[in-house]
Amino acid sequence: MLESVVRRPQRLLFALIAFMVVLFFTTYLSLSSWGSEQVRTHFETLKAAFNKNATQAAVHAQNEIASTISIGGQPSQAFMDGIKTIDDLRKYAVKGEDGNLYPPTFVPSEVNKLPRAKAGFIVLVRNNELEDMRKSMRDVEDRFNRKYGYPWIFLNNEPFTEEFKQGVKKMTRSEVRFGFIGPEMWGYPDWIDQTRAAESRKKMAEEGVIYGWSESYRHMCRFQSGFFWRHNLTMDLDYYWRVEPGIQLFCDLDYDPFVFMELNDKKYGFTISLHEYVKTIPTLWDRTKEFMKMHPDYLAKDHALHFMTDEPERLLEPGYNMCHFWSNFEIADLRFWRGQKYTEYFDYLDKAGGFFYERWGDAPVHSIAAVLFLNRSQIHHFNDIGYFHGPWTHCPLNRPKFHDNGKCLCNPEDSADYNDFMCMKEWWRTSIEGDPNQRS
Ligand SMILES: *[C@@H]1O[C@H](CO)[C@@H](O)[C@H](O)[C@H]1NC(C)=O
Ligand SMILES: *[C@@H]1O[C@H](CO)[C@@H](O)[C@H](O)[C@H]1NC(C)=O
Ligand SMILES: *[C@@H]1O[C@H](CO)[C@@H](O)[C@H](O)[C@H]1NC(C)=O
Repeated sequence: MLESVVRRPQRLLFALIAFMVVLFFTTYLSLSSWGSEQVRTHFETLKAAFNKNATQAAVHAQNEIASTISIGGQPSQAFMDGIKTIDDLRKYAVKGEDGNLYPPTFVPSEVNKLPRAKAGFIVLVRNNELEDMRKSMRDVEDRFNRKYGYPWIFLNNEPFTEEFKQGVKKMTRSEVRFGFIGPEMWGYPDWIDQTRAAESRKKMAEEGVIYGWSESYRHMCRFQSGFFWRHNLTMDLDYYWRVEPGIQLFCDLDYDPFVFMELNDKKYGFTISLHEYVKTIPTLWDRTKEFMKMHPDYLAKDHALHFMTDEPERLLEPGYNMCHFWSNFEIADLRFWRGQKYTEYFDYLDKAGGFFYERWGDAPVHSIAAVLFLNRSQIHHFNDIGYFHGPWTHCPLNRPKFHDNGKCLCNPEDSADYNDFMCMKEWWRTSIEGDPNQRS
């Protein structure tokens, strides 16, 4: 024995280590209040960490429990047929630090293995809107995103504060990105006469035009028209859902709206449509007519002009009825904005200066482009997404379908759908689907 240690000194080291380990455990057991029980738990944790099969089995068990995902209306096949009773589950339960046995936990977006679209939430927001932002996120996560885990992309023309970043991170388990909007996307292009822009703001302030006085509102509208879809942080996405601080969602969304868009070749989705204030866009339609004269081939074969004029057969001639999709909510295809037709249209409008000399909103700009360049089947009204953005509410009207089953929490009587300021009847006369409330 001694001789072998002398011949191989490393054996002494092994013996020493073995001795230390035994000493450590005996001390541990005698000091620990629930002794061997705790050691057992620790060993099980270790075993689970090193035994990949155990981990996989646990995931399968979780899938089993959460397999309420329905495919084509049918509940999907259970993953682990072996587990039938709560007793079967016992071996997958985990002892908590309080000593109780906890059933396997699961993160819905991880259990939901359905393929995802390349999509995310795009939010333009200021540091001082943190609390309203958190409320919006709460609704979006509860009603939809917990089950899918799409990323959040926050953009700001000022640097985000640490407080803001931490505040929104705490509202989601998804990836969160923070992007800065530089002066090339939020500032005056060199062809803009800033004196003339200031005069326009002064005039609109006197006339009481909504946000007419605000310089940053105009930069915002220009950014939302021409730049969010080519910002670095959004370039890897095909689809986006635009979310603003202070919105509310009223209904569970039990399917993936991005995948819906892809399945149906939809390019633009909205919830509320209404009339624009004439004073904010006095020349937008004229500039659009000029653009379309240069590019008559850009008009889609089955365009949706009936939404914007009573006589669609006369194309843009009858003038604009001010109907547009309210763009504070959008689920749309970024590739539509990135495409040649829209890019050229935006550039033409930008050169005309109406974002600054008038107060062109991104909503009518997006809407006109969608109506002209898309087939009407590619524009979608998300009737099933109950939505509030002050002061308007859209709440689905069909009670058996949306209310009696616990899906939505809103009052159909608050829904603005049939309000005269809205443009839903103009949309329903245009769309292929028609008024969902007239459907049986
Ligand atoms: C681990 O899982 C694989 C496949 O799931 C299986 O073939 C293998 O036998 C398992 N190993 C053990 C030790 O259970
Ligand atoms: C995007 O990234 C490129 C390369 O990293 C950089 O040159 C450019 O300034 C970035 N643009 C924005 C808007 O952040
Ligand atoms: C509109 O539909 C026609 C066929 O009716 C098709 O040729 C055209 O590409 C579609 N337009 C767009 C923008 O998808």
